[in-house]
Amino acid sequence: MNRKTLSLIVLLAALTLMLAACPAATPAEPTTAGEPAAPSADQPAAETGTRTVTFMAEATTRGHDANAVAYCEEQTGIDVEVVNGPESATDRLALYLQFFGAGSGDIDAMQIDVIWPGILAEHLVDLRPYLSDEQYESYFERIVLNNTVDGALVGIPWFTDAGLLYYRTDLLEKYGFDGPPDTWAELEEMAQTIQDGERAENPDFWGFVWQGAAYEGLTCDALEWQFSWNGGTIVEPDGTISINNPNAAAAFDMAASWVGTISPPGVVSYMEEDARGVWQAGNAAFMRNWPYAYSLGNAEGSEIAGNLAVVPLPKGGEDGQNADTLGGWQMAVSRYSDDVDAAAEFAVCMTSYEAQKIRAIEGSMLPTIGDLYSDEEVLAAQPFFAQLYDVFAGGAVARPSTVTGEDYNQVSTIYFTEVNRVLTGQQTGQQAVEAIEQQLQSLLGQ
Ligand code: GLC
Repeated sequence: MNRKTLSLIVLLAALTLMLAACPAATPAEPTTAGEPAAPSADQPAAETGTRTVTFMAEATTRGHDANAVAYCEEQTGIDVEVVNGPESATDRLALYLQFFGAGSGDIDAMQIDVIWPGILAEHLVDLRPYLSDEQYESYFERIVLNNTVDGALVGIPWFTDAGLLYYRTDLLEKYGFDGPPDTWAELEEMAQTIQDGERAENPDFWGFVWQGAAYEGLTCDALEWQFSWNGGTIVEPDGTISINNPNAAAAFDMAASWVGTISPPGVVSYMEEDARGVWQAGNAAFMRNWPYAYSLGNAEGSEIAGNLAVVPLPKGGEDGQNADTLGGWQMAVSRYSDDVDAAAEFAVCMTSYEAQKIRAIEGSMLPTIGDLYSDEEVLAAQPFFAQLYDVFAGGAVARPSTVTGEDYNQVSTIYFTEVNRVLTGQQTGQQAVEAIEQQLQSLLGQ
């Protein structure tokens, strides 16, 4: 059993125990949209004057998160207890659904993925009434629309994400390359050349690391491969199931050909942190990952500090396109929280300009407030924010979560399971696109 599975089991066990020990965890009356919940009379917090909010955050709380939480504790006077969630987005969704299914108020506030509003809306509070018009209007509109379900703002945009190609500037120079690759074919060639050269000194060196495990992260990577070859978005915004096309099939075969050549055989079970571990130890020329890996790569103690840069992911062929999957997380509040008002106040603070600024400067987390991309202190810390503004502000490729709504997690599970089977040599790209199409047709009733 690996470390991640173990921590999930520990969390689930903790949940079971908490529920057993806490008979009062019956669902609170759901808050009516548009009307902030009245504080309940029997709250111990009100008696002591101390309000406490439990917040389920990242898998590993890093400095920037702790500092943003500390800032909000000071601003609001609320005590925040941070609980770390599972790293895998797929496991995290399962955990949230367990909490919600039990009507548990043990977690008051949580971060939710950009693909989940349709799945989780019924369990979340409408946060629009807690936001000033000014703050509400400061966010990227695309994300606000994404997070609005039946008129309720079920998550406040906290940070956005886009898949990026990381490359080693020192190694590109060492092997005589002028700049990063423009197409996947160029990446393959550069990765192979650098890997061949570095292997002489370092047997652990690989050309390219990415996310190949069967979980939500693979959906993000594989969507980039297929979209870059003009292979569509699995289910198009109008509901058409478009996955069965030769470009998507060829894109999956391309990625399968990397396994064991320019990418480690184990990449088929990598998540973000596995890829970053290899990369940050100085053992890879290229990495596909999200912006959070930028400031960690440059942090003190990193083997590669000062020797990395980012660009959009490569195009398919010459007539292909750059494709960076849109990710990102929202602050949400559980309807079953014992103190919805405190949790909402905390969520409003964590998504404010100041808190987002802390996380942008210290953690290279992409803000959801356009003005932060022209803030001088932010740009001084993260120059790539300006360079890739167009991608971050709206150019990233969305997964089909709005059109498939409540079914999205099943759509993604079908997709990443079949793509993973291509990566592990169990089927071809063509077999995968046919299998995905067939399962999506029966799931979505087409
Ligand atoms: C990142 C993205 C998120 C995505 C996840 C997949 O956290 O922000 O949207 O679902 O990666 O691993």
